[in-house]
Amino acid sequence: MRWTSTPVTEIKGSLRAPGDKSCSHRALILAGLADGRSEISGLLEGDDVKKTGDAMAALGAGIEQTGAGKWLVSGVGRAGLQAPVRPLDFGNSGTGSRLIMGVIAGHSITATLIGDTSLSSRPMARVMRPLEKMGARFEASSGDRLPLQETGRDPLEAIHYSPPQASAQVKSCLLLAGLRAQGITTVYEPRPTRDHSERMLSGFGADVRVKRDGAGNVVSIAGGQRLTGQRTEVPGDPSSVAFLATAAMLSPRGGIVVEGTMSNATRDGFFRAVEMMGGCVGAEDAGTAAGERLIDMSFETSALNGINVPEALVPAMIDEFPILAVLAAFASGETRISGAEELRVKESDRISATINMLRANGVDVEEQADGFIVQGCGGPVPGGGFIETHHDHRIAMSALVMGTASQKPVTIDDASMIATSYPAFFRDMQMIGANLSESAP
Ligand code: S3P
Repeated sequence: MRWTSTPVTEIKGSLRAPGDKSCSHRALILAGLADGRSEISGLLEGDDVKKTGDAMAALGAGIEQTGAGKWLVSGVGRAGLQAPVRPLDFGNSGTGSRLIMGVIAGHSITATLIGDTSLSSRPMARVMRPLEKMGARFEASSGDRLPLQETGRDPLEAIHYSPPQASAQVKSCLLLAGLRAQGITTVYEPRPTRDHSERMLSGFGADVRVKRDGAGNVVSIAGGQRLTGQRTEVPGDPSSVAFLATAAMLSPRGGIVVEGTMSNATRDGFFRAVEMMGGCVGAEDAGTAAGERLIDMSFETSALNGINVPEALVPAMIDEFPILAVLAAFASGETRISGAEELRVKESDRISATINMLRANGVDVEEQADGFIVQGCGGPVPGGGFIETHHDHRIAMSALVMGTASQKPVTIDDASMIATSYPAFFRDMQMIGANLSESAP
């Protein structure tokens, strides 16, 4: 079904941030590996995270829902994983598939991994190559893609590895494999990426060492460590909050409060860029969850200016470029994004999908190999566009947010993928005043 976002003059309200997708995957995986039982609350019940839960269950963990966002997990512990009888289906999820490839690698089992069209076109060599060095074996589809078959080895050999791309998925995959390797596995990161695996592994009782190295990090984990079941609360997702924040800042009468957002320097690049653009953002301490700081955030109507997004911010806002492009389109002056070539291999080619989204709505934008340059309209963009989302949830949500403040409505070809990361998106957007309606093609 198509969805249309019709411009509104007010975005107001107070709501709670949905559970963080990255932390939800990790909570299910670590709880599924641990000795004993874990209680998880605030889990994001998006399609991606559910696939990770299904995969951990197929590998032998007990995964049971006990309430809204509440899950009870019995970890496999000392027994280790069992070989799955059917292929593990990761749907649209790069994170679930790549992290669980690290988990399977250290067990003497064989598993087949499959995914949807988008996931089956994404590169897996980035995790296969280092895992092969550690002792795992793969038979993959051409171009090192899914479907693939993985055979693990117990124990693996530890490695010292510097991923060619800044990727938390690669780092996390190797830390999970490193848990079952002989020796100390070390990942060198020239630019630090999201550190939820490090924090959550520590929370489950593992000793993970992180050393600063210039602008980067050296992360290491000794093999043979055991995890212990925990009670964990998933913090709110700053990547999902970015959509609500943008709707409020672009609205003629905008003012929202979002409670319980995770505040983490490896994830807050979008909010730092927004402040550089002149966005009205407030934050108040709101405690902690899963070893992460929480804040209640507020956003108000903002007069924004274009900026050169510092390349150092890119890893901390890697998922926020489509929605930042929407802000840039309404801002005065030019916004330049570079050093973001990883966007080419996300759920879609997000550089080209973002450019098409802006152009279809009358915005002038120039493509670069590693980013794009947006000429801001200095106010509401023309709108009126029909957007192909390319099965990409973040393109779909960005386009609908754009329509809340553009001159004419914005329509998307399909909204089903939004459920992968933000199943309550429509409820939350409508609660703060967006006008979203469904129509047949
Ligand atoms: C994620 C890491 C990032 C991000 C993805 C979630 C994670 O991917 O884009 O949405 O949870 O580790 P990369 O590791 O490919 O940068």
